[in-house]
Amino acid sequence: MKDQKTESREQKAEEIFDSSLRPSKFDEFTGQSRVIENLKVTIEAAKNRKEPLDHLLLYGPPGLGKTTLAHIIAAEMGVNIRITSGPAIERSGDLASILTNLQEGDILFIDEVHRLHKVVEEMLYPAMEDFALDIILGKGPSARTVRLDLPKFTLIGATTRVGLIGSPMRDRFGIIHRLNFYEDEELCHIVKRSSRLLKMEVDQESALEVAKRSRGTPRIANRLLKRSRDFSQVRFKGLLNRNVVDKALQLMGVDLLGLDESDRRILSAIINKHGGGPVGVETIAATAHEDIGTIEDVFEPFLMQIGFLKRTPRGRVATKKAYQHLGLSYPQSGTGQESLL
Ligand SMILES: Nc1ncnc2c1ncn2[C@@H]1O[C@H](COP(=O)(O)OP(=O)(O)O)[C@@H](O)[C@H]1O
Ligand SMILES: [Mg+2]
Repeated sequence: MKDQKTESREQKAEEIFDSSLRPSKFDEFTGQSRVIENLKVTIEAAKNRKEPLDHLLLYGPPGLGKTTLAHIIAAEMGVNIRITSGPAIERSGDLASILTNLQEGDILFIDEVHRLHKVVEEMLYPAMEDFALDIILGKGPSARTVRLDLPKFTLIGATTRVGLIGSPMRDRFGIIHRLNFYEDEELCHIVKRSSRLLKMEVDQESALEVAKRSRGTPRIANRLLKRSRDFSQVRFKGLLNRNVVDKALQLMGVDLLGLDESDRRILSAIINKHGGGPVGVETIAATAHEDIGTIEDVFEPFLMQIGFLKRTPRGRVATKKAYQHLGLSYPQSGTGQESLL
């Protein structure tokens, strides 16, 4: 386990790196074409009516561009964006001060919106619906509520766990978009753009290789690109070709499909310790020494996307493809699994 300080320092460095490569306009944003088309129409309509944008919920696995899109939308609308996250708003007073400091049309971006404290979430309902805050003054029998009008703002919520957002909250978002994993070609385009920004020379073959091994995720593509650059500087005098990329990714433990140590540990826990499943996520977490939330948010979506893992009512099941990838023989019969696949 890394200590928290190191972790947060690494996180900070990664955030700075992320924002240096972050597209700032729709034109620079690759992929998610259906979402983008929809957003462009919504933005244009709101601008024509001179109204703030409807509240918007963006969901999907980490690193697919939720925060990036929130910034782009603010820029396209020509409004300010105030950024916070669910767990950061600890008290209703914190929310009140954020909301009363917004200007008409501003965007409030709440990351990890599924982690809002209950009281804060409930205070958000009238704020989203009627642009009003109900504030309780005083205590006991003499307490009274005053209603405070708020500027008409837009809430953009982002989450990796849409299932954890209750319907009262979800229903108050006028627009809900899901971001999907990116295609290799899209990621390749992103890798090339990032390499230009980082002033690196990367040929098509190397860029495609990084793309293919990035788990459909731009943030990972950028990270692998950066680590490959470090590797090439130290070992290959800055030369970056397919061979160097291969060696760098191998050193990082990233395999040909982009799976890393943790992915393989999870699959191997299901296959070797639990007969391929079905097995509950809690058990997998305990066997693979991973956090349940991280398995559900980060690992599982991609493993399901590439058809290595299935969710059944009785738990997770590793598929034949997963066995093959790990070089294990798939049990022919008798486990009763086949009927579930
Ligand atoms: N569609 C995209 N085109 C180019 N780069 C992207 C795209 N989506 C994400 N990125 C890159 O990946 C990084 C992570 O994206 P981010 O918006 O922070 O993801 P999320 O908020 O969904 O976790 C960004 O800093 C940006 O550099
Ligand atoms: Mg984000």
